[in-house]
Amino acid sequence: MMKLFKSVRFRLLILSLLAVFVITSMVVLSDVLDTNERLIAAQKEKSVLLSDTIKQSIMLLMLENRWKELQVLIEDLSKNNPELKEVRIFHPVSGRIIISNETEDIGKRIYEKDWNRFIKQEESPFVIKKHGSMFATRVLPIKNMPPCYRCHPPEQKTLGVLDVEISLAVAHESIKASTYKHITGLVVGFVVISMIFLIGGERLINTPLRELINVMKKVESGDLSIRIKEMRNDEFGYLSGAFNHMIDTLESAKKEIERCHMQQMERASKLASLGEIISGIAHEIKNPLAGISCAIQVFNSELSDDDSRKPVITEVLNQVNRLDRIVKDLLSYAKPKPPMFVPSRISEILEKTLFFVYPEAKKQNIVIDNQVSSEIPEILMDPDQVQQVFLNITINAIHAMPNGGILTISVSKKDRQEVQDEIKRLVQDDKFIAVNFHDTGKGILPEDLTYIFEPFFTKKTKGTGLGLSISRKIIQEHGGDITVRSEVGKGSLFTVYLPIKSSQPTVHGSQ
Ligand SMILES: Nc1ncnc2c1ncn2[C@@H]1O[C@H](COP(=O)(O)OP(=O)(O)OP(=O)(O)O)[C@@H](O)[C@H]1O
Ligand SMILES: [Mg+2]
Repeated sequence: MMKLFKSVRFRLLILSLLAVFVITSMVVLSDVLDTNERLIAAQKEKSVLLSDTIKQSIMLLMLENRWKELQVLIEDLSKNNPELKEVRIFHPVSGRIIISNETEDIGKRIYEKDWNRFIKQEESPFVIKKHGSMFATRVLPIKNMPPCYRCHPPEQKTLGVLDVEISLAVAHESIKASTYKHITGLVVGFVVISMIFLIGGERLINTPLRELINVMKKVESGDLSIRIKEMRNDEFGYLSGAFNHMIDTLESAKKEIERCHMQQMERASKLASLGEIISGIAHEIKNPLAGISCAIQVFNSELSDDDSRKPVITEVLNQVNRLDRIVKDLLSYAKPKPPMFVPSRISEILEKTLFFVYPEAKKQNIVIDNQVSSEIPEILMDPDQVQQVFLNITINAIHAMPNGGILTISVSKKDRQEVQDEIKRLVQDDKFIAVNFHDTGKGILPEDLTYIFEPFFTKKTKGTGLGLSISRKIIQEHGGDITVRSEVGKGSLFTVYLPIKSSQPTVHGSQ
C-alpha cells in the first residue's frame, strides 16, 4: 500500500484528479451563483412590472371614482397570480394598511422595513425575508396629481403607498433544481474524467513504464540480450529506442572487454611459458658459448699478428660476443635481477652512458645536447641497471637518426599527480625526477606506439626487440615508469620517471 502511495504515477493521478475537481467545482459554483443572481433579478423585474401595472389600475379606478372596487381588484389579482403574496396600500402618514389582499391585515401597521423604504423614497425592488421565506418587494408611493385634485387637496403630496411582494419560492425551487443538476453533472463528470485518467494512464504510462522497468531489471541482473519490443510513437517510444541503443552499446562493450580479457590471458600464459623456455635455452647456450669464446681466444693468441686467419678469428669472436649479449638480454628479460639501490647521481650515469655512444653519434652526424646539471642531488637507484636503460634509449635515438639530428637530454622535477596523470597508474612516491631524451629522428607510427614496450617488438634487422621492455621492467622495479610521445617525421620524446626516495626502498621480488 505504502509502495502505491510512493509511486510517481499514483501521485500524478491524484494531482491531476485534484486539479480537475478544483477547476470543475469552480466552474459549477460560478454557474450556480450566476443562475441564482439571474433568477432573483427576474423576480425583482417582475415586482416592478406588477407594481407599475397595479398602480395604473388603481389610478384609473380612483379617477373614475370607483375606488371602492380597489379591494376586490387586489384580491382578484392575488388569486390569479399565486406568486403575488401580498398587495397592499398603506397610509403615507400613519403607516396603517388601508387595503390588502389579506383582509385581516387591514388596519395593522405596515412592516418597519417597508415603511423605512417609503420614508427614504427608495422605489427600487429589494429582497426581504419574512417568516422564513424570501420575497421580492417594491414600495411605490401613489402621488397626488392635478386630475386627483377634485377629491384630494393639492397640499396632500402622497395619496397612499402601494406595497407589492412577490414570493421567491418558485425561483428558489428553480435554483435548487439547477444546483442539483450542476452537482450531479460535476460528480458524473468527475467520475468519467477519473475513469479516463485511470484507463488512459494505465495504457499510456503504466504499461510502457512497467515494461521498461522489467527490461531494466533483467539488464541489471546481467541479461544483455533482452530488448524493449513495443516501439510506440511517443516519448516512451523514444525512451525505449534510446534504452535499446544503450543495451546494444553495453552488449558490444561487454563482448569487447571479454575478448580483450581472453587475449590478455592468452598472452600472459604465452609470455610466462616463453620466459621459462627462454631462460632454459639461454642457460644451455651460455656455457658452451663461454667455452667457444675461451677456445677461440686461446687459438687467437697463438696466431701471429700478420696471420691471414686472424681477421676471420676476430670476426668469429665478435659474433660470439654478440650472441653472448643476446643471451644476457634474454636472461635479464626472463629473470631480471632485483635492483641494488645506492645513492647515485643521474648526471654521472648519463656521462658514462654517453661515453659509449659518442663515437657512433659522431659518425652519424648527431649532436648530443646534454643539459643535465651535475648539481642535481643523488637519489637511490641501481646505477648499472639505470645505465642500461639510458644506453638503450640513447642507442634507439641514434638508430632513429641515420641522417643526423639532435638528441637533447634534460631533467625536471615532477610531483606525484603529474606523474600519475602522465603514466595513468597509481604511484607511491611523492616526488620524481623525469629524465627526458628528445630526438629529432624519424618518429614512431601511432599504431606501433602501444607495442614498442612489448618484448620482441622490433623494426630493426639486428634488434632483439627486448631493449625497451627490459628498460621499462627495470624502471618499474625502481617504482617509476617510462613514457613516450612521438610524431612521425619529427622525432620522439622518451621520459624516464625515477622516484626520489628518502630511504632504502623494499625490493620487490622479481621472477
Ligand atoms: N627513439 C626512437 N625513435 C624511433 N623509433 C624508436 C625509438 N626508440 C625505439 N623505437 C622503436 O621501438 C622498437 C623497439 O625498441 P627496443 O629498444 O625495444 O628494441 P630494438 O631497439 O629494436 O632492439 P634492441 O634494443 O633489443 O637492440 C625499435 O625497433 C624501434 O622501431
Ligand atoms: Mg633498443
